[in-house]
Parts: sequence; structure tokens; C-alpha cells
Amino acid sequence: MAHLRWWHPIDRFSSVLGPPGISEASRRRPQGREPAVTRPNDHVIVLFGATGDLARRKLLPGLFNLARAGLLPNGYRIVGSAPGRFALTDHAFREHARAAVATFGSADPSGPKWQAFEEALSFGAADPDRPGPLLDAVRSAEEALGGRARKLFHLAVPPPAFPAVITLLGDTGLAQDSNVIIEKPFGVDLESARSLNELIHGVFDESRIFRIDHFLGKESVDNILALRLANSLFEPIWNRDHITHVQIDVPETIGLEGRAQFYEGTGAFRDMIVTHLIQVLGIVAMDPPASLDSHRLRDEKVKVFEALRPIRPDHVVRGQYEGYRQEPGVAPDSQTETFAALRLEVDNWRWAGVPFYLRSGKRLAEHRQTITLGLREPAMSMFGVGPGRHERRTDNRVVIDFADPGWIGVDFLAKEPGPTMNVGRARMEFRYGDSFCSSHGLQGYERLILEAMLGDQSLFTRADGIEHIWAAGAPLLATPPPLQPYAPGSWGPQPAVDRLVAPDHWYLPEEPKEPTPPE
Ligand code: BG6
Repeated sequence: MAHLRWWHPIDRFSSVLGPPGISEASRRRPQGREPAVTRPNDHVIVLFGATGDLARRKLLPGLFNLARAGLLPNGYRIVGSAPGRFALTDHAFREHARAAVATFGSADPSGPKWQAFEEALSFGAADPDRPGPLLDAVRSAEEALGGRARKLFHLAVPPPAFPAVITLLGDTGLAQDSNVIIEKPFGVDLESARSLNELIHGVFDESRIFRIDHFLGKESVDNILALRLANSLFEPIWNRDHITHVQIDVPETIGLEGRAQFYEGTGAFRDMIVTHLIQVLGIVAMDPPASLDSHRLRDEKVKVFEALRPIRPDHVVRGQYEGYRQEPGVAPDSQTETFAALRLEVDNWRWAGVPFYLRSGKRLAEHRQTITLGLREPAMSMFGVGPGRHERRTDNRVVIDFADPGWIGVDFLAKEPGPTMNVGRARMEFRYGDSFCSSHGLQGYERLILEAMLGDQSLFTRADGIEHIWAAGAPLLATPPPLQPYAPGSWGPQPAVDRLVAPDHWYLPEEPKEPTPPE
């Protein structure tokens, strides 16, 4: 395939603005020539689930990364919390954090920046009938900051633990004037999401609730809006008149990674589809908001979720990789799906009749995060294809790869050199990697924790949006199709997964090649 280098930036904004994705303030200041680093006000951050997997892999390393980048408040304290049976001393929690950063962080836990970070860590266990140690730890942290810090609670706990933690925050008065970050999945179905929303609204106002989905913090996902709305090239074709189908494909090569306890009760549909992939769908499918203001942005996204047609069970393929039932912690007769592929429809003027295909699963052939928009054939086809080639005339696509650092490509047909008017496949592409930066300054979680401290809800999900998504999923959850086995390292259960998208086909483009260094 011929490759053209395309869309190189004229100006290296990253050197002017500091790390990309700093805050909504910087997002809303496109003409910004001033350094736009907005630091949040002083904060006590309380991490529930501080000894768990998410805190170890993402949150503690992410918080240290924010500290290194100078993006945590001038005054901050981080209080780890967990039920009493997992209680740690402050010293043990610091060691735990050091090990987490050493294993999963992007910088060594050493030097003055680590020392300052470590000194800000403390631990306070909490059980519903014994919140004392947590209350003491929060009080000391507040005193150390002069008594005027805001509080941010991050609930990095499994979904069944949300109600107990929320109730504790209400009963102890800790919730007052505080913000709360809640992990996905938010509920397990419509009914549980509704009652969770009701319970939380009894303790926190919606304006203080930050339902987190770390895909929404990915720089390349945010860039979808820029692609659509900062250029006049794409938005005019972003509809059913020009697009035949959309694929959102997130295959993963990893398996359970020791998370059987979480995964067994969750499965691919709740872990990935109803959360990350449908949130990405919301951004791809939404109408342009009148501004990037968080209310307008979220209103438009929620309208997409409201327009989702109920998911038909016969439009879904559920798979389980061979060997899953032998994994430690997995039931020998487990019915949990490790793969889900489905066809969704958005019932509105823009997208009527355009299928959205979503696919994600564990232990698949490749690790990718890709959106493909298939474009319609031109009204007339007057060109031939070269001898021995079998290009379909519909090889016209926009491809967005949102794995960090991400790239965007347009596949099109170009004239092959020579005397005949034959066309061959070609690609134009933009790569963050050789344009702005080789990796993004902040990862999804880091960006979102920062936004929550700044009080900006643009990139968080809203109660009504979540309920519309669960409502669309209700028929599937009521009558799930049978599980189909698939071989690890494959693309999921065949032929069902290919039949689902016929006459289209799953499309994962070649990744762009590294540029050849100059001689
Ligand atoms: C998490 C899921 O939310 O996202 C995991 O629980 C999944 O199962 C992960 O592997 C993917 O995220 P990332 O950071 O690789 O894009």
C-alpha cells in the first residue's frame, strides 16, 4: 500500500503549552500562547481500595506521575483506605506505594520528588461500624494542610462495595462539600444502576459525582472531537449519507492477570462494552455541541445513548477462551464471557441504518484500540484495478487508532503510475508519534483525576447516560446468547464473529511503519 505523510503540525504546541491534556482550562483556550497549567486547589485525596489491583497498577503510579509533572495541588495529602482486615501502617502503605510505582510507574520512586510524595501518604482503615482510623487520618491530613483543603474520594473498589462506602461517607459527614470518583462498571444492570444513582444522590449532588471511565481520559479519544470539529473536511461526511458502518474494536492479548475475583462477576460486556466502548461510541456518534462546556458536551453524548436501540441477543456473539475455566479463582462451570462482539444501532437522523460493530475480548490475537468508519462507494466507478489485484471498491475508510500515542489514517484509492487508469490502495496518515509527541504526558487516569480535582465533569459519565445504556442492554442481559469457545490467540468464536458483520468484514489496518531515519 502506498503511504503519504500527511497533517504534520505547523506549530509545536506541546512545547508552548506543556504536557498535552492538562485541564479543561487549556482545552478551552485553543489560542493559548500562555502556559496553561492550572493547578487544583489544596486537596486531601482518599483512595478506597488502596491495597487493591487498580490502585497498584494505575492510581498510585498515576498520582506520582501527576506530582512529578507539578500538576498536583501545592498542598496535598493522599490517605489510603481499605477494610480493617487489610489495614496498613503509614510506613507499610508508603512501601506498598513505592513497590507499585517501581513496578507499574513510568519513573523510579526515588529522589526529592518521590520523598515529597511519600511524605504526603498515610493510611486509615474503615469498616462500616468502625470508621475511626479513617476519620483520624483525614483529620490529620486536613490539619497538615491548614484546614482549608477540599476532599476527593476515589472509590477504587469492586461494584458490590460501592453502597457501603457511599453510606459510610454520608453517615460520617465526610461527604460534605466533597467530590467523589466512582469506578466502572456503574451497576450491573438498569435496576442496580438506578438504585446506586438514588443512593449516591442521597449523599452527593450530581455536580460532585465523577463517574470515571479512563478511555474518556485518553488523549487520542479527545482528539476525535478535534478531528471532527476543528476541521471542515470530516464533519460534513460524518453521517449515514456517507458512512456505511462503524467499527469500534478493542481486542486484548492479555488474559485475567490475576483479576478472577473481579472478572468472574463482570465479564467482557460489563467490563468493556457497556463502559469503555459505548463511551467511545458516544463521542464518535454525538452531534456537535454548541461549545465544549461540560453541560453541552454531556447533553449531546447522552442523546446518543438515549437513541440506542435495545440490543438484540441475536446481534451478539459471546465467547469464552479455552482454558478460562482452569484459571485460578474461576468456577469450573463459569458462564462468564471473555469476549463480546455486537451490532448496535443509533436511532436518530444522523445514524439511522448505520450499524455500529463493537468487539472486545481477552487472549485475542492482537492488542489494538481502533475505530473504523467505512465510507460509501462513489456514485460512479470509472476506474479499473491493477492486474492480479482484488481491491474492493469500498476500501475508502477513516481509521482512528486510539492506543497511546495514537494515529489517524484515511484509506483511499489512488491512480497507479502507468498508462492505464487503474487504481490501487493508498493511505494518508497522521501519527501523534512523529508529530506532537512520542507518548502523551498524562495517561487516562491521571488526566481524569486532575479534572476531578479541578471540578470539571466534561469527561465523566452522567447518571441519565448510564441508565440509557443499561436500558439498551436489558434484552441482552435478560436472554444472553449461549457462550461459544474460542482458541487463545484467535479472533474470537468463528464463524459467528465474522457472520455478525457480513457483508462487511472486521478491519484492523496495518499499523503505520516507523519513518526511515535520514541517511
Ligand atoms: C479496564 C478493564 O477498565 O480497562 C480491563 O477492567 C482492560 O479488563 C483495561 O484490560 C484496558 O485499559 P487500557 O488502559 O489497556 O486501555
